[in-house]
Amino acid sequence: MKIAVTGKGGVGKTTLASLLAYAFAGEGRQVLAIDADPAPSLGAALGFPEALLRKLRPIAEMEEFIAERTGQSPDETGGYVRLNPRVDDIPERFSAEHRGIRLLQLGAVERGGSGCICGRSALLKALIGHVLLDPGQVVLLDFYAGVEHLGRATADSVDAMLVLAEPTARSMAIARQIRDLARDIHLDRLFLVGSKIERDSDRDFIVERSPGLPVLGFLSFDPEVRESDRAGLPAYDLSARLAGETRAILDALRRELDFERASSEAGTTAG
Ligand SMILES: Nc1ncnc2c1ncn2[C@@H]1O[C@H](COP(=O)(O)OP(=O)(O)OP(=O)(O)O)[C@@H](O)[C@H]1O
Ligand SMILES: [Mg+2]
Repeated sequence: MKIAVTGKGGVGKTTLASLLAYAFAGEGRQVLAIDADPAPSLGAALGFPEALLRKLRPIAEMEEFIAERTGQSPDETGGYVRLNPRVDDIPERFSAEHRGIRLLQLGAVERGGSGCICGRSALLKALIGHVLLDPGQVVLLDFYAGVEHLGRATADSVDAMLVLAEPTARSMAIARQIRDLARDIHLDRLFLVGSKIERDSDRDFIVERSPGLPVLGFLSFDPEVRESDRAGLPAYDLSARLAGETRAILDALRRELDFERASSEAGTTAG
């Protein structure tokens, strides 16, 4: 299963990615958590020990390594770039592991539209493509708002993109923008998850304002998220409520994907 998490700044993407990582790890699955935020914070949310995080370097910052693999130094803009650099050894070599969860930090990826085919961007694209195509593992991608860094080919290998939204008009507006961007790259397995829910009217607001996306479930507003941050522990450990809500979201996702698979198979036989 490959899941990307996106949504407006500060909605709780990293928190959800960490909750999902522990939900999958609890099922005994191998989890690769990818922090695609230029300001990494997934490791802390996962409760990785600081000493382990200090040793971890974002792939985008390994200039010599990028140059060696792509034939172009990261700040060059022209010239020759190998578009299929070797990346298969990267997760093993450059990730840290804690409680069965492997963490990889990507670092700053160029935003789309600049037309720049830099070595760094080529390497990260190839890396995302590689991990998404690897069948054996659960991959969780913690993004910032936007989907430009998911190319068309890699978008095909994401089982689901979870758009996280708080019950605010602005958060729902961003969800709509993300949906439009996703459509541009033909990513249609897009689902909404409500975040920081305090009352029934919050749930209603999200369902009513959903930009046509199925709502998988809701995460409560829970002060334990802040407590877990202070304690350097995963929210999954401190909040039984959020852990339960996350497992329910995962169940709902599996039902949606099974349903979609069944309908497309039925469509194939009918046609
Ligand atoms: N369910 C929740 N209940 C209470 N507080 C939460 C919850 N989820 C997230 N928060 C708080 O909201 C803030 C942002 O959370 P988080 O870092 O997970 O969001 P994000 O979407 O990844 O942010 P960014 O866009 O900066 O990457 C944090 O202070 C976190 O403690
Ligand atoms: Mg984040």
